Amino acid sequence: MPDTISNYKLSSCSDDDFTSVVKLIAEMQLDNNDLNASQFIVAKSGKELIGFGRLRTYDTCQELCSLGVVQDYRYKGVGTQISQALKEKSSKPLYAVTIIPDYFKRLGFEQVRQYPKEIVAKVNYCTGSLPVPEAYVAMWLK
Ligand SMILES: CC(C)(COP(=O)(O)OP(=O)(O)OC[C@H]1O[C@@H](n2cnc3c(N)ncnc32)[C@H](O)[C@@H]1OP(=O)(O)O)[C@@H](O)C(=O)NCCC(=O)NCCS
Repeated sequence: MPDTISNYKLSSCSDDDFTSVVKLIAEMQLDNNDLNASQFIVAKSGKELIGFGRLRTYDTCQELCSLGVVQDYRYKGVGTQISQALKEKSSKPLYAVTIIPDYFKRLGFEQVRQYPKEIVAKVNYCTGSLPVPEAYVAMWLK
């Protein structure tokens, strides 16, 4: 596998893509609540789906979530490109809830102590339903 991948493209998520996305979200144990194909941007190398991420839209804010890159394609910039595209698509204050705050800092997010009720609910969902040793952190795009 090369260090960089030049031949992948970002696009909206087709019905076929969505089937793969749902499977990968389960495998990676990411947020699978309220999934809808229209929320997603996917990265594809040829016909292979190699990454995905989505925007959830709430009353007063949006959330960048369910971001995943297939193992063999990680550390090649795919997650960053998908996140940048989701940032550009967002139209309300943008939040993320994550156990890898350093990754989101690179993308311009910063940790926040106060945040909208939907993000409070997300932190509670993650802590209760997706337990991991790391703490979940709420962040917003500066
Ligand atoms: C997190 C994830 C989406 C990153 O995607 P990626 O395409 O591998 O990342 P990129 O290539 O765009 O970014 C690489 C940079 O991010 C850093 N990075 C990658 N994964 C990281 C992690 N888990 N924690 C902190 N930094 C990370 C790398 O060190 C690298 O930094 P550098 O450019 O300074 O060398 C991917 O590893 C993944 O799918 N992980 C499993 C699912 C997951 O944890 N999703 C996030 C849920 S909030």
